[in-house]
Amino acid sequence: MTKIKAAEGLTLPNGTFIKNRFFKSAMSETMANRKSQPGQLHVNLYREWANGGAGIVMTGNVMVDRNALGEPGNVVVEDRRDIEILKKWAEAGTANNTHLWMQINHPGKQSPRTVSREAVAPSAVPISGSYGSAFKKPRALTTAEVKSIVNRFVITAAIAKEAGFTGVQIHAAHGYLVNQFLSPYDNQRKDEYGGELKNRMRFLVEIYQGMRKALGPDFPIALKLNSADFKEGGFTEEDSIEVVKTMAGLGIDLIEVSGGSYENPKMMSDRGEGGHEVFFLEYAQRIKSLVDVPIVVTGGFRSQESMQEALMNNKTSMIGIARPFVLVPDIANRIMQGRYETVKTPRLTTGLKALDKKLGSIIGLSYYEQQMKRVAEGKESKRHQNAWSPLTHALMQNGLAALVPRRSN
Ligand SMILES: Cc1cc2nc3c(=O)[nH]c(=O)nc-3n(C[C@H](O)[C@H](O)[C@H](O)COP(=O)(O)O)c2cc1C
Repeated sequence: MTKIKAAEGLTLPNGTFIKNRFFKSAMSETMANRKSQPGQLHVNLYREWANGGAGIVMTGNVMVDRNALGEPGNVVVEDRRDIEILKKWAEAGTANNTHLWMQINHPGKQSPRTVSREAVAPSAVPISGSYGSAFKKPRALTTAEVKSIVNRFVITAAIAKEAGFTGVQIHAAHGYLVNQFLSPYDNQRKDEYGGELKNRMRFLVEIYQGMRKALGPDFPIALKLNSADFKEGGFTEEDSIEVVKTMAGLGIDLIEVSGGSYENPKMMSDRGEGGHEVFFLEYAQRIKSLVDVPIVVTGGFRSQESMQEALMNNKTSMIGIARPFVLVPDIANRIMQGRYETVKTPRLTTGLKALDKKLGSIIGLSYYEQQMKRVAEGKESKRHQNAWSPLTHALMQNGLAALVPRRSN
């Protein structure tokens, strides 16, 4: 029998040991209460994932400012008010020697008009494309506000560490605020945070440096980065490689590779480059040859063969998986124990083509949100293709706000 490469441990450059190569990628749970607090459902869900065998489990994005949500139901950590429930969440998610890392995010202009009074961004560049009308034209942040948001990321990370999370991840992908700073399309600032790439990167670099100072050299800080925005005039693969090199030089502990934004949600497509099962692998291989930082590719991993192939050929250091972890919460254990059957992520439909097209991203997300809630309630996730049940779930949870595009990832 061939040895399962994903079962091997991994030591990060700072000495942190990860028990295997399975990396559960961030999925916004949208289960926080009206005060943006996590609760028992988060504790239950992450206990389930911790027991399911992954080496690293990433939380869904946690926002740094309650006035800037990406969607209803986001958890916000901006001060210590929820430290007790955060401790319970961390305790459950680190069971079974699992690393539980908190993904930290600010949506910037990707904050729908239904959830935020105003949207802010590096520059007043609106979101284009078919989803544009769901978002207000953003207001450009002042330099002082940019610095205060840097500080918010650092505060959230420090609280995560205090609560017992064992790492953090800066969300710099999928068109959110850090990504907006990196993109020359979105960032047309004239101060030290805009202009050439070195300046566009400053927001990210300051967040990282602030976190490193607050968290110490041994605490893992990861980055989720787009390989590119796939948008004319946006953040390119060349830019992305420069960011990777800079962040590696500064001591980032792990880089997760993704791509796309609301305007072009590549990371949620069904197929990667050249029709391959997995997205972004070629890019990952490119950066892997340039830096020593462990790389995680996320997007499209479904079969055990594709995971084994990517690891054996050194295309990725860990296997990033999101949606299958909802359908099979113990996917890591099943693979390592030789009892995994490739999951097929369902194609959901309302039965009406035009409606499917209009609500496509919402249907997909609502389905996984509904299934995460089921798992958190101790039930099995349900596999079906009927889009009406997740849509009803979304409406019950969040009212009509559920029916505007909330996030593409
Ligand atoms: C319901 C849902 C919520 C998501 N939330 C986040 C998030 O909070 N942060 C993030 O970086 N990616 C998020 N993603 C994207 C996933 O991390 C991942 O990049 C994407 O689903 C592709 O991986 P997969 O093919 O294994 O699902 C989300 C995806 C889904 C389905």
